Amino acid sequence: MGARGAIGATGAIGVDVSDGPKGNANCIDGRITQLVTEVLRVDPTAPDRESIARAAECLRSGGLVAFPTETVYGLGAHALDRRAVQRVFAAKERPTNDPLIVHVARIDDIAPLVVDIPAAARDLAVRFWPGPLTIVLRRSERVPDEVTAGLDTVAIRVPSHPIAQALLQCARLPIAAPSANRFSRPSPTHAAHVLADLGGRIDMIVDGGPTSVGLESTVIDLAHQPPTILRPGAVGVLALRSVIPDVRLRSSPAADTGGMPAPGMLSKHYAPATPLTLFEGDRASTIDEIVQTARRYRERGQSVAILAFGEDLEQLRALPVHLLDMGSENDPPAVASRLYAALREGDELGVDAILVRNITTDHPLSPAIQDRLRRAAFASPASPFPLPPSP
Ligand code: TXA
Ligand code: MG
Repeated sequence: MGARGAIGATGAIGVDVSDGPKGNANCIDGRITQLVTEVLRVDPTAPDRESIARAAECLRSGGLVAFPTETVYGLGAHALDRRAVQRVFAAKERPTNDPLIVHVARIDDIAPLVVDIPAAARDLAVRFWPGPLTIVLRRSERVPDEVTAGLDTVAIRVPSHPIAQALLQCARLPIAAPSANRFSRPSPTHAAHVLADLGGRIDMIVDGGPTSVGLESTVIDLAHQPPTILRPGAVGVLALRSVIPDVRLRSSPAADTGGMPAPGMLSKHYAPATPLTLFEGDRASTIDEIVQTARRYRERGQSVAILAFGEDLEQLRALPVHLLDMGSENDPPAVASRLYAALREGDELGVDAILVRNITTDHPLSPAIQDRLRRAAFASPASPFPLPPSP
């Protein structure tokens, strides 16, 4: 049986707190019901049936349940229950124009949610589902506007994590689940991250330990031509092109000039609260820039954390800064699984600045890591102490 622990509501949620009945929180009047968030510990290799049944029942009755997927933790709600979906937006403080991903147990479950399943979608599903790929298709009338932000498309994913699968199969529902973080915080890769962001705001957290991939799913749009990758993730462009040759990449979010380029594809989205500067270029010059920049901050009496690849640590060790090891640059899967926890740790240090360099190794995950670093750095100073260009 899964261990169970009730965590007291945090209270400090920055909105009106009512004692109304459970399930009444919504984003229409801006009130969030203060809840006691229950944490169920579940073995990810053999999910305990009683705990899964409790979480499934909570979802069926309109509750909010955070659960692990192979990418990041999701904040689940019954996708066809408008009220439950509204509660997701309220708990996360997420803008209602940013649509949610609907999770189902298997490809056969998507038929009621879409107008048709194009051959390309079937081909991708056969190859990549269950797994870290989200496919945007034309939606059916059954999917509430709250889920799709009023769009005529819906994003669908079949996750592979055993707890996510067990929950979907037990609940027998499509589950709408964005990442279980507060809006603009890094996505959660541990249950503790969910608790820190959403404790007191949601009904339950299924704690299945750390997630394996660590970055959100690849999102591909098949509702429009040509097929377009809206968000890079663990399923890389070459793998997708081996199934659909004409897949193209959407232009980098960092290049956005404003407005909403695609639904929810906000540039600043995975941001730590501390200003984060990303140094882009080859390894030697970016390390040099980081060292010089860290020294300038220290001369001004300011504190610095460096998110460092394992191979850079030796060179940085002498600096009077906090070093956070992201893992080896030659092991991008390890970096991906560590990145969001490292960003949160950097924030918790309370330093004046976080410095990081881009990943230079070629790997299917490298574009996704690079994308998340750019988003984390978006709106932070490009280079607080402009340095002369390297010779
Ligand atoms: O790995 C993941 O994808 C995680 C786990 C929980 O499945 N979920 C996740 O959800 O990252 P979220 O809400 O944080 O990100 C979903 C992204 C958003 O950028 C959203 O704008 C986009 O998918 N999206 C959702 N529906 C869409 C649609 N109909 N058209 C285009 N983009 C859509
Ligand atoms: Mg998210």
